[in-house]
Amino acid sequence: MKQKPTKPQGKLGVLIVGMNGAVSTTFIAGTYAVRKGLGLPVGSLTQLATIRIGKRSDNNFPKIKEFLPLYDLDQIVFGGWDIREETALDGARTAQVLTENDLLKVKDEMEALRPMKAVFDKEWVKRLDGNWVKQAPTKWDLMEMVRQDIRDFKAQNKCDEIVVIWIGSTEVFTPALDVHSSIEKFEEGLKNNHPAISPSMIYAWAALKEGWPYINGAPNLTVDMGATFELANLNKVPIAGKDFKTGQTMVKTIISPMIKMRMLGLHGWFSTNILGNRDGEVLDDPGSFKTKEESKLSVIDSILQPELYPELYKDYYHKVRINYYPPRGDNKEGWDNIDIFGWLGYPMQIKIDFLCRDSILAAPLALDLVLLTNLAQRVGFYGIQEWLSFYFKSPMHSPDVVPEHDLFIQHIKLKNTMREIMDEEPIDHIDEKIKKFK
Ligand SMILES: NC(=O)c1ccc[n+]([C@@H]2O[C@H](COP(=O)([O-])OP(=O)(O)OC[C@H]3O[C@@H](n4cnc5c(N)ncnc54)[C@H](O)[C@@H]3O)[C@@H](O)[C@H]2O)c1
Repeated sequence: MKQKPTKPQGKLGVLIVGMNGAVSTTFIAGTYAVRKGLGLPVGSLTQLATIRIGKRSDNNFPKIKEFLPLYDLDQIVFGGWDIREETALDGARTAQVLTENDLLKVKDEMEALRPMKAVFDKEWVKRLDGNWVKQAPTKWDLMEMVRQDIRDFKAQNKCDEIVVIWIGSTEVFTPALDVHSSIEKFEEGLKNNHPAISPSMIYAWAALKEGWPYINGAPNLTVDMGATFELANLNKVPIAGKDFKTGQTMVKTIISPMIKMRMLGLHGWFSTNILGNRDGEVLDDPGSFKTKEESKLSVIDSILQPELYPELYKDYYHKVRINYYPPRGDNKEGWDNIDIFGWLGYPMQIKIDFLCRDSILAAPLALDLVLLTNLAQRVGFYGIQEWLSFYFKSPMHSPDVVPEHDLFIQHIKLKNTMREIMDEEPIDHIDEKIKKFK
C-alpha cells in the first residue's frame, strides 16, 4: 500500500559496484563539488528541473527537489566495491574525465574513499584483471560476504537506508537460462557455482536479500530475470535497469519518434562510435559488445512498430558499431547516418555527429536514479520500476507489456508518477475548454 513520503532526516548509503570507474568517480566527485557550491548538477532532473502542478493557469512550477521529499546531496554517504585497491581519487585520475584542478577541490573526500574487495571473474569481463577480489569456495559464500559488507557499511556510517547501483563494466552476454528462472533454481546455482551466474548477479542477490534496491547502469542481465523478479516482489524491494541512456541512444529515442510521428519512412540507420576509455576497451571484446549491441538495437524497432507500419518500416537496415580508439579517452564521438523517405517514397538523409562526454552525461542519471529509487522504496513501490524507463536504454518491463523507449513518453510517465506519489493529479494535456465541452 502506498504511503505519502516525508522528508528523510538521516543518511542514505550509496553503494556503487565499480566505484573507481569513469562514470562512478565523475558522479562521486561531482556530488562533492555540488555540495561545496563549486559546480552545478547539470543534467540532473532531481536537482534542476521543475514540475507543473495543477492547471496551466495555476502557474505552479516547484522544483522537483522541493516537491518530492528526496534525500539532500549532503545526506549521501558513498561506498562500494572495485577490483583494484586504489582510492576514488586515483580512480578518477586514471579515468581522466575531470581535470586535476577540479579533482583537487574534492581531494580529501575522494582520497578517503577506498573500495571494498570485489566479486570478480575474468570470464565475465575478459579485458580486465583485478587483485582486490574476494575468495570463497562457492558463489553463495561470495553473496553472503557482500551481504556482510552492506551491513557493515550501514552500521559504520550510521546510514538509515541503502541503495546499490552497478556502474561496473559490461559483462559478457548471457541469455536468461533455467538457472535464472526462479529463486529456488538460482540459489541452488549459487551453491553449485553454476557458470551462468555472473558477479553482477551475486551483488544484486545480496542487495535484494538485505532488502535494498538495486539499479543496473549496464546492459548486463542481472536483475532482468525471473529469479530476481520473484525475489524483489517477495522482499518488496525496487529494481531498476538497464543501461544508462546517454549519448547516441538518447538521440535515437528523440529522432525515431519524430520520424514516426510524421509518418516518414526509414530505409536504414547506421550508427558508429569511437571511444577510448576503459569502457571502450571492455566493449572491444565481442562478448561484452554483444550485451551492449542487444541493448542498443532494440530501441528503434520498439518505437517504430514495423508490425503496424510495414509500408514504412518493414525492411529497414540497422547497424551499430563501437570502435575502441584510445586517443579520444572518455570523449566519445557518435555518428549516425539515417536514410529516410517521404511523400511518394522520395529519399532524404539525416546526419548527426555527437561529440559527447560519456561520463559527464551518465553521472547525473546515476544521481537521479539513486534518489528516485530510494523514494520508490519509501512509498512502498517494489519490483520493476517502469516509471524510471526515462533513464535507461533497455528499460525493464513486466513480461505482459511492451517496453516504452520514446523519451518524451518516458518523461511524461516519470513526472506523472512523481505527481501520483505526492497525491497530485496527473497531467493529460487535454485542453480545459475541450473537457468543459464534453
Ligand atoms: N558512460 C556512459 O555514457 C554509459 C552509458 C550507459 C552505460 N554505461 C555503462 O556503465 C558502466 C561503467 O562505465 P565506465 O565508463 O565508468 O567504465 P569503467 O571501465 O571506467 O568503469 C568500470 C569499473 O567497474 C569495475 N569493475 C568491473 N567488474 C567489477 C566487479 N565485478 N566488481 C566491482 N567492480 C568491477 C572496473 O574495475 C572499473 O573501475 C559500463 O558497463 C558502461 O557500459 C556507461
